[in-house]
Amino acid sequence: MKTKFQSIIILCVILAIGISTPQIPAQLSEESKECMQCHKEVNVSLYQQWGSSKHYGANVGCYECHRAEISDVDAFEHEDYYISTIVSPLDCARCHETEVDEFLNSHHSKAGRIMGSLDNVLAEVVEGNSKFITEGFPHGNSAAAVNGCWQCHGSQVKVLEDGRLDPATWPNTGMGRINPDGSEGACSACHQRHEFSVAQARRPENCGKCHLGPDHPQKEIYEESKHGINFFANVDRMNLSSSKWVVGEDYDIAPTCATCHMSATANQSITHNIGLRIKWNNRPVHSKLSHETDAKWGLESSNIHADTRRNNMQDVCVACHNSNFTDNFFIQYEGLIDLYDDKYATPGEALYKAAVPLLKKDDEGNHIAFSDKIDFTWFEIWHHEGRRARHAASMMAPDYTHWHGTYDLAKNFYSELIPEIEEIIEHGLNSDNKDDVKAAKNLQKVLEETMHSDNHKWIEGKLDPDEKERRKKAADEFKSRYK
Ligand code: HEC
Ligand code: HEC
Ligand code: HEC
Ligand code: HEC
Ligand code: HEC
Ligand code: HEC
Ligand code: HEC
Ligand code: HEC
Repeated sequence: MKTKFQSIIILCVILAIGISTPQIPAQLSEESKECMQCHKEVNVSLYQQWGSSKHYGANVGCYECHRAEISDVDAFEHEDYYISTIVSPLDCARCHETEVDEFLNSHHSKAGRIMGSLDNVLAEVVEGNSKFITEGFPHGNSAAAVNGCWQCHGSQVKVLEDGRLDPATWPNTGMGRINPDGSEGACSACHQRHEFSVAQARRPENCGKCHLGPDHPQKEIYEESKHGINFFANVDRMNLSSSKWVVGEDYDIAPTCATCHMSATANQSITHNIGLRIKWNNRPVHSKLSHETDAKWGLESSNIHADTRRNNMQDVCVACHNSNFTDNFFIQYEGLIDLYDDKYATPGEALYKAAVPLLKKDDEGNHIAFSDKIDFTWFEIWHHEGRRARHAASMMAPDYTHWHGTYDLAKNFYSELIPEIEEIIEHGLNSDNKDDVKAAKNLQKVLEETMHSDNHKWIEGKLDPDEKERRKKAADEFKSRYK
């Protein structure tokens, strides 16, 4: 098994001799030649893809990637050689230390650490059961987790006694896959084998395997934005296969996901830590500064302040826009983060928390997640539409900001959450249990405070007189125009 110590040694050696680009062997190894003898027949397409890769040109063959030590957990004897099927980041690190180091220090490599999250209860209990029994898991897994969550986030790969990989855990190229050598992540989450083409990695669809759908529709957002429109209209001018790919030098017509989050600019080199250019983490109920969430995950990059990361992102924008345009854009975006937090996240969370004592409990008195309708309502408000609105504003997609974002927020807040809260209060007030009556009174107080606040009093017809006057004037003007 490769240890952390060994990889630190490799890093030191690389730093000592001052190279980050791998050296190209003069010829293909004897071992790899042997592998090919059979595999060009056994796996024709695999062999063809490898044959058109840069690795082929650089004499990096099957054995250079698949070779294993006899002591590796997933090593098996195969035609006189010890190999493993899984090629982990530590295997790639033999030649690509810089990329691996950056990746291992990013949120991406930690994406498998979702076990125990609220979403996890969904896949394992609410949506699924544990009847997917395999050799390595006699107590079973949830087929919903195996085929869903784990394919994006990564499985914990389990090696069976004979070296085979348990079918609950592989095939899998989830981003934060936990590998048999203990490393986290899968480079092939983005770099598809066996061509490992940068053109494929740079395209927006690459990120879209995972970054899409109701809770993080970045792919759809990008397609809707002017950036996406220009990309698809001009793919042939994107120079996607060029080995040097600096925005503003090698292409200028549109940015892709990679351009903004990873690729080189005139001032920055490529980074495999996708968090180094984002100021906000918009995944939690309340947006958090990126260096703060990094600290929570124990990432080294927590010492890079969110404002520095904003500057890194702006450096990308100014390859195509002027700085005033860019600054103004970020002011618009942060206005939306504030609106969401002030109007929906803060009061919504206060209401839900005050309602929890009145929801279904297990024998030990703990709230049972997702057992009441309001559990789903509140979850979707922050986890779906609350994220959509913020994600879309951050990447210039007005439809997702509004119709799939703030409109859905308002609709579900006023026409689902509030009526459900009212129902829970009524039920609690009529209960024989004194604690419930007390909790219901408290919830009622929170509800009243919320509905009388500046954000929500409109629903009781109570707008500020000035604003009422302004709105009436605007409505009259509108009507006179469209008579
Ligand atoms: C004598 C022929 C032969 C040689 C030499 C050979 N292989 Fe294989 N290999 C096979 C066959 C046959 C299979 C099974 C293919 C199948 O089931 O689809 C296989 C399977 C594999 C697998 C997949 C194992 C799995 O988990 O499914 C890998 C990876 C692999 N070989 C890599 C290598 C490497 C690397 C070398 C060189 C060190 C090599 N092979 C040499 C014939 C060979
Ligand atoms: C640059 C590294 C690299 C090289 C070179 C390479 N592989 Fe792989 N191979 C991978 C990765 C990565 C995977 C995905 C395994 C995983 O899930 O981690 C893989 C998977 C496989 C698989 C199983 C997956 C499948 O789709 O069936 C086989 C078989 C295989 N490789 C054979 C070969 C053979 C034969 C060669 C030489 C012609 C070769 N590989 C060259 C990195 C490499
Ligand atoms: C034995 C050394 C070695 C190993 C192991 C290795 N690579 Fe490479 N890789 C190279 C070399 C050398 C190049 C540069 C080829 C060139 O520039 O012509 C390269 C190039 C690349 C490129 C750029 C391709 C392009 O089109 O410019 C990617 C992406 C890549 N490797 C990914 C990986 C991944 C992912 C792994 C592990 C699954 C891996 N490599 C394992 C040596 C290696
Ligand atoms: C289609 C791929 C995909 C599936 C399926 C998926 N996720 Fe995710 N998940 C993501 C992506 C992408 C993000 C990050 C979104 C962002 O940054 O906006 C994420 C974020 C998360 C987060 C937040 C992590 C953080 O840093 O705050 C948790 C927790 C999570 N997912 C758990 C799950 C669980 C559990 C399941 C199954 C019930 C699941 N996900 C299914 C792609 C997926
Ligand atoms: C989130 C997707 C993603 C993941 C995961 C990822 N890469 Fe990359 N990688 C890219 C993109 C995009 C590029 C092209 C960057 C550019 O040239 O603009 C790239 C480029 C590369 C290159 C060529 C670098 C150069 O200087 O030209 C290598 C080598 C590489 N990746 C190796 C790896 C290794 C090793 C891993 C696993 C530790 C990995 N990548 C994981 C997306 C990814
Ligand atoms: C295989 C699934 C997958 C693919 C492909 C993928 N991501 Fe992710 N990404 C995730 C998950 C899961 C997370 C959330 C990780 C966490 O915090 O738990 C994430 C998080 C992120 C973040 C937030 C990072 C942070 O520090 O908060 C960014 C930015 C990001 N991805 C960009 C990209 C880009 C750009 C690409 C394509 C080049 C890409 N991703 C490809 C799954 C994926
Ligand atoms: C024009 C540049 C640009 C492009 C193109 C772009 N993004 Fe972003 N992305 C941003 C900005 C700006 C932010 C917000 C940064 C901040 O908060 O400071 C962001 C934020 C994110 C986040 C963090 C979301 C969270 O939950 O915290 C993810 C994930 C992400 N982008 C993925 C993608 C993916 C996937 C694509 C392509 C489909 C993409 N981005 C295309 C600029 C871009
Ligand atoms: C590779 C060049 C390129 C990069 C890099 C780039 N953009 Fe753009 N951007 C464009 C193009 C082209 C348009 C479309 C211009 C038009 O409307 O005619 C555009 C449009 C926009 C718009 C107007 C959206 C609309 O619907 O009117 C905003 C806002 C914007 N970009 C912000 C950014 C920000 C912020 C960044 C950095 C995070 C960025 N851009 C990075 C090329 C780029």
